[in-house]
Amino acid sequence: MKNFVSAADVADIDSLVQSALAYKADPLKDKLLGANKRVGMLFLNPSMRTRLSTQIAAQNLGAEAIVFNVDKEGWALEFEEEAIMSGNTVEHVKDAAPIMGKYFDILCIRTFPSLQNKEDDYSELYINQFIKYSGIPVVSLESATLHPLQSLTDIITMTEVLGKTARKPKVVLSWAPHVKALPQCVANSFSQWVNAWGKADFVITHPEDYELDTKFTRGATITHTQDEALKDADFVYVKNWSTYTDYGKIYNNDPEWMLTNEKMKATNNAKVMHCLPVRRNVELSDEILDGASSIVTQEASNRVWAAQAVLADLLRGKK
Ligand code: CP
Repeated sequence: MKNFVSAADVADIDSLVQSALAYKADPLKDKLLGANKRVGMLFLNPSMRTRLSTQIAAQNLGAEAIVFNVDKEGWALEFEEEAIMSGNTVEHVKDAAPIMGKYFDILCIRTFPSLQNKEDDYSELYINQFIKYSGIPVVSLESATLHPLQSLTDIITMTEVLGKTARKPKVVLSWAPHVKALPQCVANSFSQWVNAWGKADFVITHPEDYELDTKFTRGATITHTQDEALKDADFVYVKNWSTYTDYGKIYNNDPEWMLTNEKMKATNNAKVMHCLPVRRNVELSDEILDGASSIVTQEASNRVWAAQAVLADLLRGKK
């Protein structure tokens, strides 16, 4: 693996999942792999889980993680090629990224979309500019369109719950209401990874006009009828996203789309997943989050092992 920004960077998802589960069983088994290595973690946006789990993962491998809150503490970066920098940006990524490439061995970046311009966001300009100019492996901590560490974690968690079950699970991605227009990243990424994994019957359910980019969803069954989607589901992955076609809008915020224990009766005793943070009683009800079907804490705790498997793979590539 050269970089980790998409499922397409991973040759064998199952093998990465097994690597993560091996770290979960024995977190310090490669505690010297990252000795004398530095992992730079640039945040252009807020985070709790991604930041802490990736720092712990680096520490478990003996590497030093250095966090830089670019949005609060750094110079305002310019990403456009040939920009005339007479506005608010102070430093071009062409100048900043090569320096980070000298300071660090691996560069991890969180950079959310603007939700103003679909073409700009879906070009993944920011993370691609860091890949182009840093000269070192780049790990996405969530980019404009994808959240691969979260999706790897989600596959790890489903693999763990399934155990030795041979049956193909039914996995449902279910849109949920929200008060803000949110990116499509988690839903895009979950779709991309579940499709690439190829081990589930995958159904996506959302209200009309919330279609995601087909390059991520192709292969899934898509329905606007949530009840139909939930029937016999083994996993229900709940997430809000704003519209993709008429970009970044909230068209429908019907509270009827919030999952309840009553709706869960149609499932095969499904486990409920969410990447967190979650707006309680808007996206997901207390009764679900505090009930036996929720595996959101197990899922979030697995973020450490996902990050550790990815960092270990990239560190081995540098040996
Ligand atoms: N799921 C997730 O990425 O959480 P944070 O935004 O807290 O990192």
